[in-house]
Amino acid sequence: MKYVIGIDLGTSATKTVLFDETGKITASESYDYPMYQPHNGWAEQNPEDWYNAAITTLNSVVSKSGVNKKDIVSLGISGQMHGLVMLDEGCNVLRPSILWCDQRTAKECEQLTEMLGRDTLIKITANPALTGFTASKILWVKNNEPEIFDKCRHILLPKDYLRFRLTGEFATEVSDASGMQLLDVPNRKWSDVMINTLGIKEEYLAKVYESPEITGYINEDTAEKTGLSTKTTVVGGAGDNAAAAVGMGVVTEGKAFTTIGTSGVVFAHTDNPIIDPEGRVHTFCCAVPNAWHVMGVTQGAGLSLQWFKNNFCYEEKQQAKDENKDVYQITDEKAKNIPIGCDKLIYLPYLMGERTPHLDPDCRGVFFGLSAMHTKSHLIRAVMEGVTYSLYDCLLVLKEMNIAPLSMLLCGGGSKSKLWKSMICNTFAMPVETSKSSEAPALGVAILAAVGAGIYPDVKTACLNMVPSDSNITEPVETDTKLYRSYHKIYASLYASLKENYKALANMQ
Ligand code: XUL
Repeated sequence: MKYVIGIDLGTSATKTVLFDETGKITASESYDYPMYQPHNGWAEQNPEDWYNAAITTLNSVVSKSGVNKKDIVSLGISGQMHGLVMLDEGCNVLRPSILWCDQRTAKECEQLTEMLGRDTLIKITANPALTGFTASKILWVKNNEPEIFDKCRHILLPKDYLRFRLTGEFATEVSDASGMQLLDVPNRKWSDVMINTLGIKEEYLAKVYESPEITGYINEDTAEKTGLSTKTTVVGGAGDNAAAAVGMGVVTEGKAFTTIGTSGVVFAHTDNPIIDPEGRVHTFCCAVPNAWHVMGVTQGAGLSLQWFKNNFCYEEKQQAKDENKDVYQITDEKAKNIPIGCDKLIYLPYLMGERTPHLDPDCRGVFFGLSAMHTKSHLIRAVMEGVTYSLYDCLLVLKEMNIAPLSMLLCGGGSKSKLWKSMICNTFAMPVETSKSSEAPALGVAILAAVGAGIYPDVKTACLNMVPSDSNITEPVETDTKLYRSYHKIYASLYASLKENYKALANMQ
């Protein structure tokens, strides 16, 4: 039996999972780290934390599995997308990584749009200038920290920095590179126009591979620290959403999934690069060679509930400890007792601005309709419903583009909640299946690793052999759909009413 490893470098933790060649989990380990928010709308992490988390989890997974290191033939890395890691000539990290959810680059997005024009940007990179993407972050460093920009010789994404530390190679792959806004997305190669516009050099960027291709081998230092072999190959891997797609078998036209992780995503596989002319959803290369995907993003999905729990749920945390339960089980139980619509309370999940459909770094969270009759349970349910409405906004844009999936797979931490699943199912008005791949991004890159190592000939065949089949289907209830949709109407109108106020608030000193 051969084994493959998937590492998922997330925003709250890195998870490392060892799978056998049939996709069965043999050992897994997770390691948390902090996210720093030095200003409103900023989000940074320390790349050394990712590296330590990866080494610790790799070491633990290899030793507790008892699998012979020569049988662990290949490894794939998935990760949070868009983050900027800059290294100097000696390959030292120059500043903390600026993350996907950081919103500091509104001015740089305007600058990029002025320099190139919105249409050219969309034509080359398949997306308009966005605060979340890496290009505007590079420009921000150039404008605000010129001494760091001058020293920069390597620009990497989070998972590709980890690859560099594990293998010594500067490599990336098309799915994650698509989120840098430096890639010619239809042609799957770096764009000279984007590179010249930013005033960087192509040699600063990593070599681009397709996701299942071999990019290098575990180096001696990593082998010593983890117990892996230097013969273990490391494949391209994928951005977390493209990786989750593979881990759930969303690798053919017509298939789609929704994830509720820190961010929320509605993702559809496409055989061609279909682009929204308004740029409200992203078109990226996917981890299947010669295919793409379209996805809408909610910035603050699981993040909203996590924020609420961290700040207002001390009792629930204590109760969870006492009853040996997950705290989200307790919040779920409370939310379940509240009717759909939360007795007229609506939450807008814009804690870190919003991408789909507003593309607005300045908007922020709102509880609308608060009354003295509302309890903490109402607020918990409103947060979950607000995130659901935001994901429904993503689906509506896909539908406008004639991408109309008939059913939806659900994954991410939020998919463990039956209540959240029923909200998605009834608001989307389609059958929703919870994915059996509990670690979809890690499994996705492990599948790519299996293809790279030659265990399977291609991604689709590997998925047929390694992705567990899904069964747990929830069907929508018409009366509930009606109710959710009528609340969504009010939800959707709130942003338009608040747009100018958000701007004024952002401009306050
Ligand atoms: C996708 C995105 C997030 C991050 C973090 O565009 O920004 O999904 O990848 O998970």
